[in-house]
Amino acid sequence: MKARIAVHRDFKIGTIDDRIYSAFLEHLGRAVYGGIYEPGHATADEDGFRDDVLELVRGLKAPLVRYPGGNFVSNYDWLDGIGPKNERPVRLDYAWKTTETNEMGTDEFIRWCRKAGTEPMLAVNLGSKGFTEALAMLEYCNHPGGSYWSDLRRKNGSAEPHNVRIWCLGNEMDGPWQMNHRTAHEYGRVANEVGRAMKVFDPTLELVACGSSNHNMPTYPAWEAEVLELAYENVDYISLHQYWDNWDDDYLNFLAKSVPVDRYIQTIGGVIDYVKAKKRSKHNVYISFDEWNVWYHTRKKGVSDGDGVNWAKAPSLLEDAYNFEDVLLVGCALNTFIRRSDRVRIACIAQLVNVIAPIMTQTGGPVWKQTIYYPYYYASLYGRGDALNVAVDVPTYDARVADDVPYLDVAAVRSRDGGTVAFFMVNRHPDEALAIDIDMAGFAPKGIAEHVLIAHPDLKATNTVANPDHVSPRIGDGISVIDGRVKGNLPPRSYHLVRVS
Ligand code: AHR
Repeated sequence: MKARIAVHRDFKIGTIDDRIYSAFLEHLGRAVYGGIYEPGHATADEDGFRDDVLELVRGLKAPLVRYPGGNFVSNYDWLDGIGPKNERPVRLDYAWKTTETNEMGTDEFIRWCRKAGTEPMLAVNLGSKGFTEALAMLEYCNHPGGSYWSDLRRKNGSAEPHNVRIWCLGNEMDGPWQMNHRTAHEYGRVANEVGRAMKVFDPTLELVACGSSNHNMPTYPAWEAEVLELAYENVDYISLHQYWDNWDDDYLNFLAKSVPVDRYIQTIGGVIDYVKAKKRSKHNVYISFDEWNVWYHTRKKGVSDGDGVNWAKAPSLLEDAYNFEDVLLVGCALNTFIRRSDRVRIACIAQLVNVIAPIMTQTGGPVWKQTIYYPYYYASLYGRGDALNVAVDVPTYDARVADDVPYLDVAAVRSRDGGTVAFFMVNRHPDEALAIDIDMAGFAPKGIAEHVLIAHPDLKATNTVANPDHVSPRIGDGISVIDGRVKGNLPPRSYHLVRVS
């Protein structure tokens, strides 16, 4: 099977916002306790942060980490997580039916971000709490001093303001599972009022309003239209979430699941434009796709994730063991964000450690990379620069979730220094290789600077503590520059990063 691909030096989608390679960390299961924070672990530093985890996080170069939730945030009192640790209350978390010790809170998370080389993206609780608590938290974090909240931060050990630039106004408020779930009208009003006040404090803050929890929500996309009609001028992003499953064990349908994501982004892009035009506004709103991933390996249909947890402390929850098949869909999803980087300015893989995550730990034991670590890693490292328009001529197939799904999924990024073009490619075909022929008009390609391939004979192969490198990248061959065109073969069911110099 053949795939003809064309890019042109002057046909670019736009400059990618690096924040599409961000991540999410929630107080959920062992994400925090036993994940990033484990005093007593052999690698724990003076703050109790696991250095082995920090090292892998640093490697991913995630520009933002969204925190503390997630469903958790909608019944979270941020005051429980500040001040002397031995005075912090132990609370029940109603989202995941666990016990929260509050040993980690806002100040510790900011400290962890500094060590991880990332920036915090904090969520305020607009479920059980609201306007007053959100502003108090903002003032605590960002005001230099001389007010009650800022002086409390100073007293708690942070003389300098945390200077958190980006804030989520609640989480998934469209979801009936959310603590104190609201209608679009109720939420849009609150988001607007909180957003307006936060911008009075600092007009340069960037604020994210909740959009849909997934594109099958009955309220999608009317939710976004109503929320934006109410809050447009006071927010900068509308958030979208999406998770994928392969419960039916249908490989081709599973790999087609990135296609509706493209439609999802386009649709909400249209809603943004509609509201902007209706309001005769000059303000721009973009998409923050701040939760996405494969999520089903540990989930049971119709069973709530907290069932049977019985208020345990940091139990193993949502610890999906990712397989090779997931590498391919995650690669396609990242390609979608690159191709839609004109609309999507932030995207967060959900989550970062232990909970549906690229990084896994054993409490008291080692850390390892899940299979999906790799496509995320390569996109984050080499997907920075200008996203190029890519024309692809390749056979397609019809799946249940989408028609005309191309067997080749590809995104192309010209590096900031213009020296290389990175092609991220997934051959979705279950048993045929793809002969690629890339026309790079205006580029004069010299050679292949790097070719990394991820392929495995077993779609269900995973990385485990005993076999952490079972699915891992290797150096690819068989792609070269011939007469100014990039040519070669992509084996069936394979992921590729090809950097052309
Ligand atoms: O990431 C797991 C959960 O998925 C989050 O808490 C919630 O926002 C979403 O439903």
